Amino acid sequence: MIDLLRKRRSVRKFTEQLIGDEILELLKETLLRSPSSRNSQACEFIFVDDKSSIEKLAQCKPSGASALNTASLAVVILARESQTVAWIEDCSIASILLQMTAQSLGLGSCWIQIRGREHSEEKTSETFVQEILEIPEEYRVLSIIAMGYPQNAPSGRPFSELDFNKIHLNIFPLRETD
Ligand SMILES: Cc1cc2nc3c(=O)[nH]c(=O)nc-3n(C[C@H](O)[C@H](O)[C@H](O)COP(=O)(O)O)c2cc1C
Repeated sequence: MIDLLRKRRSVRKFTEQLIGDEILELLKETLLRSPSSRNSQACEFIFVDDKSSIEKLAQCKPSGASALNTASLAVVILARESQTVAWIEDCSIASILLQMTAQSLGLGSCWIQIRGREHSEEKTSETFVQEILEIPEEYRVLSIIAMGYPQNAPSGRPFSELDFNKIHLNIFPLRETD
């Protein structure tokens, strides 16, 4: 895992190569193995591989969804809010695990934030996605993971850029600004 993390970066441009069935099955297995608070297993997942639907999803917000323009797969991550207070955490864990498994299989991916974003003044990004994919209102959409084979894989962040000042021992440090 640490080797994967050392190389991990968001990928926003993909080739036209499609994702094979064997890999798709591994991605599905990953999602269903994600931990969830109180084991609610409330998350559900929509695999969108239809190009025209992915293109529509790319319109979910004015900026920040460009990775969907070339993605061969979009995985929409959602949960019924009434089933668990931890739906954001559960969907987030599923999202990042999906991204890490994708990377381990040679794919690239980018998290597209849907919850809390706006499509326009009249419509949230969530409502926009719900309408396109016919998702009932009680299901909350956290993210869409745009995926595909990377056009150019960005290199991981160098160790020297990591800010170890953010890691504390036993107690939060007193800072001059506090
Ligand atoms: C919760 C979350 C939401 C994100 N939303 C978006 C998004 O809507 N669009 C996008 O292009 N990238 C999005 N990203 C990717 C971040 O921009 C990216 O992780 C960050 O800039 C660091 O770059 P890196 O992943 O290459 O290390 C999101 C990442 C996270 C964790």
